[in-house]
Amino acid sequence: MDYSYFMTDVAKRRRPATTRELSKQQALLFILAQLERNAIISNEQNKDLLTVPAKIAYSAPKSIISLAEGMPNEETFPFTEISVKLYDGSSFTLDDGELGAALQYIPTQGYPPLVQALREFQRRAHAPPLWESRDIVVVSGSQDGLSKALEAIIGTGDPILVPDPFYPGVEVVIAPHKAELITIPQDDDGPIPEILRETLRNREVFGAKMPKIMYINATGTNPTGIIIPLERRKEIYRIACEYNFLLLDDDPYHFMHFDKEDPKSFLSLDTEGRVIRLDSFSKVISSGIRLGFMTAAAPLIACVELHLQSSHLHAPTLSQAIMYKLLKIWGYEGLMQHYTRIRCFYKQRRDVISALARKHLNGLADFSVPRGGFFLWIKVRGIENTWKMIMQRGVTEGVIMAPGGAFMRDSKSCNAIRASFAKASYQEMDLPGLKFRSKSCHVLAVSPELTAKKDQAYRLAG
Ligand SMILES: Cc1ncc(COP(=O)(O)O)c(C=O)c1O
Repeated sequence: MDYSYFMTDVAKRRRPATTRELSKQQALLFILAQLERNAIISNEQNKDLLTVPAKIAYSAPKSIISLAEGMPNEETFPFTEISVKLYDGSSFTLDDGELGAALQYIPTQGYPPLVQALREFQRRAHAPPLWESRDIVVVSGSQDGLSKALEAIIGTGDPILVPDPFYPGVEVVIAPHKAELITIPQDDDGPIPEILRETLRNREVFGAKMPKIMYINATGTNPTGIIIPLERRKEIYRIACEYNFLLLDDDPYHFMHFDKEDPKSFLSLDTEGRVIRLDSFSKVISSGIRLGFMTAAAPLIACVELHLQSSHLHAPTLSQAIMYKLLKIWGYEGLMQHYTRIRCFYKQRRDVISALARKHLNGLADFSVPRGGFFLWIKVRGIENTWKMIMQRGVTEGVIMAPGGAFMRDSKSCNAIRASFAKASYQEMDLPGLKFRSKSCHVLAVSPELTAKKDQAYRLAG
């Protein structure tokens, strides 16, 4: 596939920083030497982690003297040990060389042992076709990956396909590029393939610019809580092949579904190399650790890597070193057990909020029980737009939920509300319903100033 067709001119003009390329090999050798010295990885494993130029560098005499690198001397850092205790009673410590490596610059792609561990994880979790032609880059959460991927593909005025409604983190990235959002209506199974195909056919007939990418959030969708079923995933993928566009699957809730079986990811269906998959540790390990990873065709990953080089150089090394140790201690099975545990945790909350919504909203609103993720999407009857209801009445009543309009293109009117069941106590979940029930929330006197002030905050919060 010719990936340059999908890339913007800006993305194609990106060049690596010479010093970074130099330090990339040196940083890699430094980390590997530290890890090898601490018997974290064996010499043979060590070599497997190297890129071709690094392998050449690795074969240089061990007595090589380098005055080239721009890395600080870690002996000057105030930290001597970082210990982490886990809820299962186990613990680990970063000290000596391992801590030194965790506090240093690393290659943009990520902390090498973590990159390798994630490659193995991805292979096992998704068995992606064309594995040899794909690569991985560690990013600072899905949002970072999302913005880097979109900015590689969306140039000024370019069209992008998005489900309607959709995660607002997309719009904040592409709005400055004046991108054209082509919204595809959804039913309970996600974007409707017939409408997607018809939209594309019409654009082709009328000679409109064709989209090069579709944004998808396939599992536990934010804000609707649906899971796109396998047959529909296959159909959307077929259409992507037919009309030659990439699929950006932002899938932070992949392991947070409430079905019996794990969904089959778009990556696992990708026989042509057109899926860019985003994983995030935010919802399942910690959002503050700011880690996620992108899996895609190697040329697309290389393009994103160059962008990262020009922004924050790499995702935080300390977070990556901690994540690597966790993966090493738990292994694939341990991580899956953790995912099962949090699925049970959120499923219980999902059941409670659904029961409360059924109790309080009967006759007032409609909703489907979320099948994954954090959100209940409530469609209020007899009202066209919930924006003012939430932004004014909700705020003064002390109940904050997200108005549906925040998830629509240009915040157009929407009769839905997004309620999160992730953090509120069961008592807190009950209150909004009671208030909703007890007042006539359809008729409101609205202060336009208040609404305008809150608008921006909601769009940014996502
Ligand atoms: C669909 C979706 N994508 C991306 C993100 C951002 O996640 P991260 O913390 O990994 O950047 C979120 C967070 O709410 C989300 O719901």
